[in-house]
Amino acid sequence: MKQVKFGSSGIMVPAVAVGCMHLSELSQEAAESYVLECVENGASFFDHADIYGKGQCEAIFGNILTKHPELRDRIFLQSKCGIISGRMYNLSKDYIVSSVDGILDRLKTDHLDALLLHRPDALVEPEEVAAAFDQLEQQGKVKYFGVSNMNSMQMELLRKYVHQPLAADQLQFSVPVANLVSQGMEVNMDSAGSFDHDGSVLDYCRLNDITVQAWSPFQKANWQGTFIDAPDCADLNRVLEQVGAAHHMSKTAAAAAWIMRHPSGMQVIAGTTRISRMKEIIAASEEELTREEWYQIYLSAEGHILP
Ligand SMILES: NC(=O)c1ccc[n+]([C@@H]2O[C@H](COP(=O)([O-])OP(=O)(O)OC[C@H]3O[C@@H](n4cnc5c(N)ncnc54)[C@H](OP(=O)(O)O)[C@@H]3O)[C@@H](O)[C@H]2O)c1
Repeated sequence: MKQVKFGSSGIMVPAVAVGCMHLSELSQEAAESYVLECVENGASFFDHADIYGKGQCEAIFGNILTKHPELRDRIFLQSKCGIISGRMYNLSKDYIVSSVDGILDRLKTDHLDALLLHRPDALVEPEEVAAAFDQLEQQGKVKYFGVSNMNSMQMELLRKYVHQPLAADQLQFSVPVANLVSQGMEVNMDSAGSFDHDGSVLDYCRLNDITVQAWSPFQKANWQGTFIDAPDCADLNRVLEQVGAAHHMSKTAAAAAWIMRHPSGMQVIAGTTRISRMKEIIAASEEELTREEWYQIYLSAEGHILP
């Protein structure tokens, strides 16, 4: 498994992380064998959030850790907080601190390797985030901190107050949902891709040693399902098949290799619950697409242009 830098922390982490959002769709036994097989195959970085399965995903994982305590030191455990589903976002100090206590309780562990703030809170007071991070670090409950779905200025605001470096920003990124790179190439144009949705967040992350973690790497925009084998993404699937064949890999693997080809050293947060698919995605981390292949795949997705 390819390893990438985790922010400026100095540690390396697997380029493919196991997204745990769908873990509660498995039985406890199936989840256990999936998690154990992931670790055996080098996928030892697990991405949770307190809201996944309304806490069930973390609880299932906690049961696995209770049964296999030796696993804890072999894995990297990340979770996220700050969303109160359908009601509000909350990045107040008390909410962050109490969320972490809930997460640790469900995961049956005494610390997280990383905590991400799940979404920006319009009412955020960065001094409170700083106080929460300091407390969690001092108590040994969280080693590294990061964010998710934040743009450059939101991170800049936080970084004025927090004492720890932001290690990661988890952002939606896939071949069809690629504004992160489109806006950089369509700069100065009046085209759809030229709209800067996030304050050049990819360049900001590279400038500040923040690892981009790509969520929903195989999904179309707005939760419309996977683009792999989707009839309305025929061109993209044809090119993924062709490029994949040249590397003896599947379309899914080619789509993952496309993300990992980016020189910023992104992590792919893969949400599959099938070990066969996870193995394909892990294998993709060892394959490097050529520049031509990367652009071929990019241009095969609807709306992508080179001005
Ligand atoms: N920070 C955020 O706001 C945010 C938002 C969403 C997700 N996430 C994180 O990102 C992770 C991945 O998100 P995701 O699950 O939406 O993304 P994904 O990895 O793009 O999609 C995985 C889902 O697509 C299905 N799928 C169907 N065909 C597939 C194929 N050919 N290849 C791969 N998957 C296929 C999988 O089913 P099978 O299980 O049958 O393979 C699974 O349900 C989550 O687990 C979570 O950790 C973060």
